[in-house]
Amino acid sequence: MAWRSVGADNADLIRKMRDYGIIASDSVAQAMTKTDRRHYSPRNPYMDAPQTIGYGVTISAPHMHAFALEYLRDQLRPGAHVLDVGSGSGYLTACFLRYIEEKGDDVNTRVIGIEHQPELVAQSFQNLNADDPKMLDSGKLIIVEGDGRKGVPEHAPYDAIHVGAAAAITPKALLEQLANGGRLIVPVGPEGGEQYMTQYDKDSEGKVKETRLMGVMYVPLTDLHRS
Ligand SMILES: C[S@@+](CC[C@H](N)C(=O)[O-])C[C@H]1O[C@@H](n2cnc3c(N)ncnc32)[C@H](O)[C@@H]1O
Repeated sequence: MAWRSVGADNADLIRKMRDYGIIASDSVAQAMTKTDRRHYSPRNPYMDAPQTIGYGVTISAPHMHAFALEYLRDQLRPGAHVLDVGSGSGYLTACFLRYIEEKGDDVNTRVIGIEHQPELVAQSFQNLNADDPKMLDSGKLIIVEGDGRKGVPEHAPYDAIHVGAAAAITPKALLEQLANGGRLIVPVGPEGGEQYMTQYDKDSEGKVKETRLMGVMYVPLTDLHRS
């Protein structure tokens, strides 16, 4: 039976996803329970489906956010540097910080979201502040406006990188900004074609291993000035 769910509220949605095994760990469930989707998705926040958030963009479905957190959770440690490319609503960026903070407080923790649509950057500031202004005020969560395909070198290297839109080929700039021991997950493949959520693990000597996780369907990373 296909997974389809809607919760009465945020806690109910996350509980159902945990019961169904979509969320595999209590720590991911806790971070997602604390991050109420109503601050980020004005439409149907508790439905497990992508929702439009304006400017031709969707917030990804809760199960995709859960998978991203599960796949990256070993890298989400106090003091880690994390990059969320195509941060859109800011929801997953907030979840990354919440996940890390549950594990411990560290002044060096940095979770960087990068989004190229200025209106969405402004929207994500509003969303994050409506959720909890301490996230931005602490300086641990930073939203940058720019082309995420180039990464954010100022805060590199990153222990974890998530990309919320598809790259046509392996994104080299992001791999370069991945720390030894770090993990990048990114949908790779052509627009409307065969795409795979792909995991890149960099070992302690900088050698990269590529693993295809699952077939997916994502909008592409684009060039704002050409589209
Ligand atoms: C499917 S949405 C996901 C948004 C976010 N992860 C969420 O769930 O709210 C993909 C996002 O990638 C952004 N995006 C696309 N190309 C980009 C680029 N080159 N640089 C930065 N952001 C980009 C889009 O504007 C959009 O916000």
